Amino acid sequence: MSKVLLHDKYFQPYIAAAEIQQRIQEIAAEIDKDYAGLDPLFIGILNGSFVFAADLFRAVTIKAEISFIKLASYRGTSSTGNIITAIGLEDNLHDRHIIILEDIVDTGRTLFSFLPVIEQQSPASVRIAAFLSKPDARQHEVPLAYTGFEIPDKFVVGYGLDYDKLGRNLPELYILAD
Ligand code: IMP
Repeated sequence: MSKVLLHDKYFQPYIAAAEIQQRIQEIAAEIDKDYAGLDPLFIGILNGSFVFAADLFRAVTIKAEISFIKLASYRGTSSTGNIITAIGLEDNLHDRHIIILEDIVDTGRTLFSFLPVIEQQSPASVRIAAFLSKPDARQHEVPLAYTGFEIPDKFVVGYGLDYDKLGRNLPELYILAD
């Protein structure tokens, strides 16, 4: 594998496709064990999670459902802070076991704002499965039940993640070259 150029930046190979697939199988096996008989509902956050969601969902063997949402955030008043709306969120999450699928948790701001929106519907449980986590970049604490890989605070692309819309189709993960 060699470097790729996306817009003005070079990215170098970081995590191989086979290693990613191996880790997906491990997480799916954990979910199979943790959620047997609970009929969980996966909620994938678009756009970035679509590749992770497709692979993880196909690796899970228990009875399960999946749906996708898109998040839009806008600035509210100074008392309400940042307001987040979930486009396409189903309104029947009551008593369901929810597994949120996210491509990467960076500062944690996105999920920190989104979790209360889910909790409002009083689901039976909510857990997060993140393909990637950057612990060193965290500003808001969010509990990650399943994490594919912990990575340094550097920009990555591929496997659904983009740099200004490009790179999502790369089957392996690439990191910004030095
Ligand atoms: P957070 O709200 O700071 O946790 O950011 C989460 C979102 O930022 C992710 O869903 C990605 O869309 C984006 N993001 C953060 N780091 C990266 C990266 O290294 N590559 C591509 N997208 C990223």
